[in-house]
Amino acid sequence: MPSFPTTQHRSMSHPIPESFKAFRIHNDDDGYRAGIETVTLDDLSEGDVTIQGHWSSVNYKDALAGTGKGKIANVFPITGGIDVSGVVVASQNGRFAVGDEVLVTGCRQSQKRDGGYSEYLNVESDSLVALPDGLSLREAMAIGTAGFSAALGLYRMEANGQRPDMGPVVVTGATGGVGSFAVDIFTAAGYEVHAITGKVDEFDYLESLGAKQCISRHDLHWGQKPLETARWAGAFDNVGGDMLNGLTRVVGEYGNIVSCGLAGGFGLNTTVMPFILRGVSLLGVSSENCPQDLRATLWQRLASEWKPPHLDSICTREIAMDGLMDTFESMLTGRSFGRTVVKLN
Ligand SMILES: NC(=O)c1ccc[n+]([C@@H]2O[C@H](COP(=O)([O-])OP(=O)(O)OC[C@H]3O[C@@H](n4cnc5c(N)ncnc54)[C@H](OP(=O)(O)O)[C@@H]3O)[C@@H](O)[C@H]2O)c1
Repeated sequence: MPSFPTTQHRSMSHPIPESFKAFRIHNDDDGYRAGIETVTLDDLSEGDVTIQGHWSSVNYKDALAGTGKGKIANVFPITGGIDVSGVVVASQNGRFAVGDEVLVTGCRQSQKRDGGYSEYLNVESDSLVALPDGLSLREAMAIGTAGFSAALGLYRMEANGQRPDMGPVVVTGATGGVGSFAVDIFTAAGYEVHAITGKVDEFDYLESLGAKQCISRHDLHWGQKPLETARWAGAFDNVGGDMLNGLTRVVGEYGNIVSCGLAGGFGLNTTVMPFILRGVSLLGVSSENCPQDLRATLWQRLASEWKPPHLDSICTREIAMDGLMDTFESMLTGRSFGRTVVKLN
């Protein structure tokens, strides 16, 4: 257990205010509620590095945690926000020095540890990634868990043999944060990308990111057979449920399907036929607990060859912590679009 930096240690390295703002979530006899509060560092989870938060972002999981519509947090009260980027203001770890620019995505933030919607926070150095050259602190959070998950999915597919010359890859939930980055990054990596969306009025947006074909999810007819005519060489799914079931039946031989999300349901009702007759692979993506060495590798790629070419078109909204609740509501009703960054300081 790392020792907690003393107040004296912190003040020697950087003037950290006695109290500051954080977006706190409570679940007690007075009910489930969340909002901005004044806290001190001693109110928050311990860690061997203290950072000043500069930017965070809004992910689907943040919306579930902030509204209580999904069971994300295991301890209360807790600070929301699974992502954060910022600058080290105190460190008891030799790998990180005061002034270093760093980021954390996932790693139990807003689940078991106080998260990133905070002007200052303690983090465990094991979860920290040094900001790679080629990304600003704001860009890192515009990408955040969403872009990281898209990159992790691409990495897993390619490690399992996916190649652009096998044919087109389809992305579902395409206008969401993860979906937008998947369309953008897979296109940049040389794939022909098709996009399935519930928002027919956003076909132009998806085409601007590189989608070669856009399909309304309301017009999908998967057929009834365990295997239907193969339509795609691979798939990146943010939706789950019937969508994922359908995809397993229409991905071609030795294609890979990444299961990333559950925006449409957490069930999966399919047969073994795609796996034993077509050699299809179903690959999981868990950005939360991705091994740290792979995490650092993927952030390097996100800062270079996989840097989303249309980052500015995907991340068009910037809010402060007081805009979080409205953004959560719009996300959970499927109205959200692209990415939102949260300015913390
Ligand atoms: N495994 C991981 O590590 C990981 C990491 C990040 C996120 N996720 C999951 O991935 C999913 C997407 O996350 P996100 O942050 O991109 O969320 P988001 O921005 O809200 O995007 C979700 C998208 O899914 C589609 N959608 C929403 N409700 C739907 C419904 N009822 N049926 C079918 N499609 C629906 C919408 O896209 P269209 O309107 O374009 O169809 C929506 O924009 C979430 O389920 C999230 O929990 C998983």
